[in-house]
Amino acid sequence: MMLSHRVGRVCHVLVLVLCLSSAEDFDWSANNHDSFYYGTFPNGFSWGAGGSAYQTEGAWDKDGKGLSIWDVFTHKKGKTFLNDTGDSSCDGYYKIKDDILLMKELNLNHYRFSISWPRIMPTGIKSDHVNEKGLKYYDVLIDELLENSITPIVTLYHWDLPQVLQEKYGGWQNISMINYFNDFANLCFERYGDRVKYWITFNNPWSVAVEGYETGEHAPGLKLRGTGAYRAAHHIIKAHAKVWHTYDSQWRSKQKGMVGISLYGDWGEPVDITNQKDIEAAERYVQFYIGWFATPIFHGDYPQVMKDFIGRKSTQQGLGTSRLPSFSSQEKSYIKGTCDFLGVGHFTTRYITQKTFPSNRGTTYFSDRDIAELVDPRWPDPGSEWLYSVPWGFRRLLNFIKTQYGNPMIFITENGVSEKMMCTELCDDWRIQYYKDYINEMLKAIRDGVNVKGYTAWSLLDKFEWDEGYSERFGLYYVDFKNKNKPRYPKASVQFYKRVINSNGFPNQREVENWKRKATETCSTSNQLLAAEEQRNTAANILRLIHDPLTSHMEMVTEVVVPTVCTLCILISAVFLMFLLRKRN
Ligand code: NOJ
Repeated sequence: MMLSHRVGRVCHVLVLVLCLSSAEDFDWSANNHDSFYYGTFPNGFSWGAGGSAYQTEGAWDKDGKGLSIWDVFTHKKGKTFLNDTGDSSCDGYYKIKDDILLMKELNLNHYRFSISWPRIMPTGIKSDHVNEKGLKYYDVLIDELLENSITPIVTLYHWDLPQVLQEKYGGWQNISMINYFNDFANLCFERYGDRVKYWITFNNPWSVAVEGYETGEHAPGLKLRGTGAYRAAHHIIKAHAKVWHTYDSQWRSKQKGMVGISLYGDWGEPVDITNQKDIEAAERYVQFYIGWFATPIFHGDYPQVMKDFIGRKSTQQGLGTSRLPSFSSQEKSYIKGTCDFLGVGHFTTRYITQKTFPSNRGTTYFSDRDIAELVDPRWPDPGSEWLYSVPWGFRRLLNFIKTQYGNPMIFITENGVSEKMMCTELCDDWRIQYYKDYINEMLKAIRDGVNVKGYTAWSLLDKFEWDEGYSERFGLYYVDFKNKNKPRYPKASVQFYKRVINSNGFPNQREVENWKRKATETCSTSNQLLAAEEQRNTAANILRLIHDPLTSHMEMVTEVVVPTVCTLCILISAVFLMFLLRKRN
């Protein structure tokens, strides 16, 4: 859970503003929030879904895999919700064929997954050992995808650094990661590049830097406030550039693929559009988020506003140099232009206002920005605490990227919504609404001229949600984690997304409304079946727990009380739904 989001949530202030902006080549006045645009996507637009290694594979210690920082982090008490770990998660490692059937059901064009570095290089160091069994797993996955006409989009780093590299060198705090990462990437190009044509070096480096090395909410859990995140990001940007150059000089001509990076960014909207300070604060919010990484990669250096703010605060703190490291001119030209396509992960938006944090009261990435985040409490927030549904922010972010970085080729690498209930719920009408509105704003952005080539729904399956454990379910498919076979069940959103894919957009109002109705109607039967299955599991658990004298109170609550209450909820809503349907007929 991102700290900034928590802060935003606490601020919970009602903000009523006219949403206008100053970008020149974009007709903001046409951006009527409530209007839905019926139309289709360009031919060849790629529809996909995604997941990542640590979040879905399980098999954390199987077939010679080494430990990652997430294996170690989650095995320490108190780091994740209910001390959940990704030890087995969805058991995706054993379910390639099953999961590809789900992708076929959706008619996906692409699937985004990540390679676990310690699965194929147990210590992270190539000269130590390369794990053939781990390499084989991804070989099979890639082959199966291609046999089913699904394009693999492969992320090299989705947060699971080999633990040995953390222990020996301090992970991304250390410059040596650049070469180790390059060796790992090079092996992946060598082994899979004949079949993989879309490579993403890093997923969401913002999270790696801020949550891993500043707040410590994520592995490796370091709290190096005010310096750790900047240092980690600096090495990540250089590592990305190095890997891009490796591909460019050694593999591109043979393999003809592309290398990009996936950046995460919320949109920041000024609270008061007539207030210059708010306008600048909102711009700063986005620059400290996506601009931190995108500006060096597209223009060669950090955003001026980051250099100014962090530099000034460092001076006020009596430091001789800025806490934001700098690139040499050679490095700048080496980094500039190292992006064949930009991956964009986006989930939500914040209102932003200026707020000065005095430099003598501690230094953090967050106080360096001099902003406050606010939310409109009327925004729906069906799932994760930080995730408000604000579809229009997506169009604005995409237009911002277009103007700032010279209209790059974009793949949406993550977009979706969770449900916070621990309950079984397959009738996810709020997710249908979220996808419908966000995909529609993306369509509007494409009509504005933004070069979006593909969309990845996040995620295919419910999965391990980092520090939130299994408490937040982002999947199109529900996964029953309590059942050792980890069965998957389609939520209603599967039916809806599938229709969007098959029509390559939104043909007309009547049809789209029909999709929504049909999707939610069919889910109630599966919901009841699943509820019955859960009831059986709960009964079995009660027996097991009664016979186990060591059962803790917490286990009793999570394994018995919560599922029982949930099952009752579902049965009651099913009866209520049937009653409503009868009444309508
Ligand atoms: C971004 C991360 O890349 C992804 O792994 C996670 O599931 C989503 N945020 C949702 O929190």
